[in-house]
Amino acid sequence: MAIAALFAIGQAPVTSEAAGEDKLEVFSWWTSGGEAAALNGLFNIYKKQDPGVEIVNATVAGGGGSAARPVLQTRLAGGNPPDSWQTHPGWELLGQYVEPGYCEPITELYKSDGWDKAFPKELVANLMTKDRKIYAVLAGIHRGNVLWYNTKLLEKNGIKVGNRMTFDEFFATCDKLKAAGIPALGVGDSGIWASAELFENTLLGVIGPKGWSDLFTGAMQWDDPKVKEAMKLFAKMQNYVNPDHSAQSWDQAIKALMEGKVAFSSMGDWADGEFLKANMKEKADFGWVSHPGTDGSFIVVADGFTLAKGAPHKDAALAWLKMVGSKEAQEAFNTLKGSIPARTDVDRSKFDAYHQWSMDSFAKDKLVASCVHGEAAPAAFQQALNDAVTAFVTDKNVDNFANALVQAAKESQSTK
Ligand code: BGC
Repeated sequence: MAIAALFAIGQAPVTSEAAGEDKLEVFSWWTSGGEAAALNGLFNIYKKQDPGVEIVNATVAGGGGSAARPVLQTRLAGGNPPDSWQTHPGWELLGQYVEPGYCEPITELYKSDGWDKAFPKELVANLMTKDRKIYAVLAGIHRGNVLWYNTKLLEKNGIKVGNRMTFDEFFATCDKLKAAGIPALGVGDSGIWASAELFENTLLGVIGPKGWSDLFTGAMQWDDPKVKEAMKLFAKMQNYVNPDHSAQSWDQAIKALMEGKVAFSSMGDWADGEFLKANMKEKADFGWVSHPGTDGSFIVVADGFTLAKGAPHKDAALAWLKMVGSKEAQEAFNTLKGSIPARTDVDRSKFDAYHQWSMDSFAKDKLVASCVHGEAAPAAFQQALNDAVTAFVTDKNVDNFANALVQAAKESQSTK
């Protein structure tokens, strides 16, 4: 004790790193089979680069981060941040983390590592930048509006899916399956966001990308006849959903699709991560098409990582972020996760047919920001949407649904 005290005199203050605590704490909600495999892909590269650093994998299970984000908020508000955490760009990053001062900018890395040329400029400028400072690096970009299907189950029932699908075609297929006693649509909305996502995809299918931007800039109202039309279609879909949906998680719904218990699932392409993890074969076992009506649009659900202000292990965190933004990491992570690399200069030949399809879509289609995944609107509106969807899947009351969202939009407008 006394000796240790003597040694300490005149030395620099003992930080956790100087004390030999070489750690890195990364916070995320990546716990499903495909998600955990992809996250490990990142950790493995990091370990190769910095073998002396112990990685603390702080995860809170629950798709879409619905359970993780409140835990993170408590930690941030209590001055106990992880070194780096998963975030969606847009409102979630800028409104929840940057605005209250929880993040350190990483603009320098965009210069030192050539990222200003490698990442999509508009995405970075519009959704990740405040006062000319950039606050995150993207690990990958998911496409939210994908309708997945079990190829063999559809074949068995004489159903063929083309390159695009209308709502009429979709419902005709659902009826056929219903007649055969099969719930057409697999939903796992124990986290209600999965149903909100089905609605979000359906909404885009009706109002299109122009309507989408009108809706989120306030030029179109949430009780517009077109929005109500989407709500009615969403209500109709409830007739074809698996009866145990509210007890299932999103990945359990995907598992049910793999097992042929349901035929379709409308879900972001983290579902592809589950197919990959289960060794399902593209086209032969599972297939995909844009959610009905949304061909030509790409709902962006991007995943980034931040640098905490006052990160307990800042050097390790910076090394982590540099790694996440590297070509090697973007290739390793996204081949497992189902998302496409955010960098546009990766080796495309390393990716399978689904990824090629999504990369093409990202390059040529209209990009729209997801509301369900925190990009397009403030957290309060995202929550209001989830609450309104919870009520709607039971009461199917279009007017109540629309009015709740009109009200929520008004409230979030006034707090902007
Ligand atoms: C994230 C994905 C994740 C999905 C399901 C989304 O919000 O962006 O990375 O796989 O939620 O948990």
